[in-house]
Amino acid sequence: MRQLAIIEDGGMLVRGEYIAAVGRRREIESLIESDTEVVDAGHRVLLPGFVDAHTHPVFAGMRANEFEQRASGATYREIAARGGGIRSTVRSTRNASQADLVRAGKRYTDWFLRNGTTTVEAKSGYGLSLEDELKILRAIKQLNDETPLRYVPTFLGAHDIPSEYRSRRQAYVSLVINEMLPRVAEEKLAEYADAFCEADVFTTDETWEILSAARCHGLGLRIHADQLSLSGGAKLAAELNAATADHLEHTDATGIMALKAAKVQPVLLPGSVYALGSNDYPAARQMIDAGLAVVLATDFNPGSSPVPSMPMILSLACTQLKMTPAEAISAATINAAYSLGRGDEIGSLEKGKRADFVIHDASDYRELAYWFGIEHPWRVYVGGELVFQRSGASC
Ligand code: NIG
Ligand code: FE
Repeated sequence: MRQLAIIEDGGMLVRGEYIAAVGRRREIESLIESDTEVVDAGHRVLLPGFVDAHTHPVFAGMRANEFEQRASGATYREIAARGGGIRSTVRSTRNASQADLVRAGKRYTDWFLRNGTTTVEAKSGYGLSLEDELKILRAIKQLNDETPLRYVPTFLGAHDIPSEYRSRRQAYVSLVINEMLPRVAEEKLAEYADAFCEADVFTTDETWEILSAARCHGLGLRIHADQLSLSGGAKLAAELNAATADHLEHTDATGIMALKAAKVQPVLLPGSVYALGSNDYPAARQMIDAGLAVVLATDFNPGSSPVPSMPMILSLACTQLKMTPAEAISAATINAAYSLGRGDEIGSLEKGKRADFVIHDASDYRELAYWFGIEHPWRVYVGGELVFQRSGASC
């Protein structure tokens, strides 16, 4: 993760949607033909587009009121217990049409792209009824079709127990398993399934039941694990052979060893720790030192992590998780791509891969994590197409 294979004075040839060659500038210049469009990046850093492998980008409304309550001392769990939190966003999302959700989603798509993200994993989970979950997944499909950002859809019907099922939770688990999962699979609306495994949300047994059923429908598995407490989510992810275990703020050494033995990739989300005003950052160093292919993502959502910026996550990874800038970039690109089953397609600049890349307004890759709170991209390309261009002064 610390070796970025940097090409100094490099160049890249793109043909159509794909990378045709990468190398020293002189080698690449010799391939220029009469109809080749030449883009002079100056001495800027060119990197693969960020792959944000954990987001919740389709929802209605926002929760600045809860942000204010937390600033005054309330905790995320207290707010959730009194009907706020995820259930508050569920209420507004149920009242929104698919068109409303797509309209809001396009605004966030723009935020992702201008921060250099070219692929996002996108979870449902703010509907929690058959029709509302389908509506969100269809909105994700529409966003994938109508915007340049690539969306990888994940079904998160097990994000919370909706208010109307609070006194009969097993009935909600059955609804997810017997009605939602078959429809999601039949309509091919998701590649992965996820569940929020946590003491106040889904128990490890319920998570096991739901995700085992999801696997039978051919979905890959991801788990919100050990976020607010050591609930056994990491160990469960290992038992289920999930693709990823996400959050892991409270995972202990046994959990880390279980992930390693089962080759489950940890997805670390320091933006949510930061935005919740907590200090419980996950043990990234122990995970990397154990040989795990750590991934970094934003967890973009209206409650715990209202941040679409991967450069901000790189900054938090270096300052709070003690990852080096190089490790953070590997975690935000190639490792993330593999966690989404797309390691041979995106996540690095190699011949034959999709031409998803970003020219950053920086001359050293470490600047992306170092200057924080700014937008670094100068030009963003998806499949060889220019999709964002910064105006104004640059280096
Ligand atoms: O990953 N933990 C569960 N889901 C989100 C929070 C969603 C919300 O608060 O709306 C997360 O942090
Ligand atoms: Fe999340």
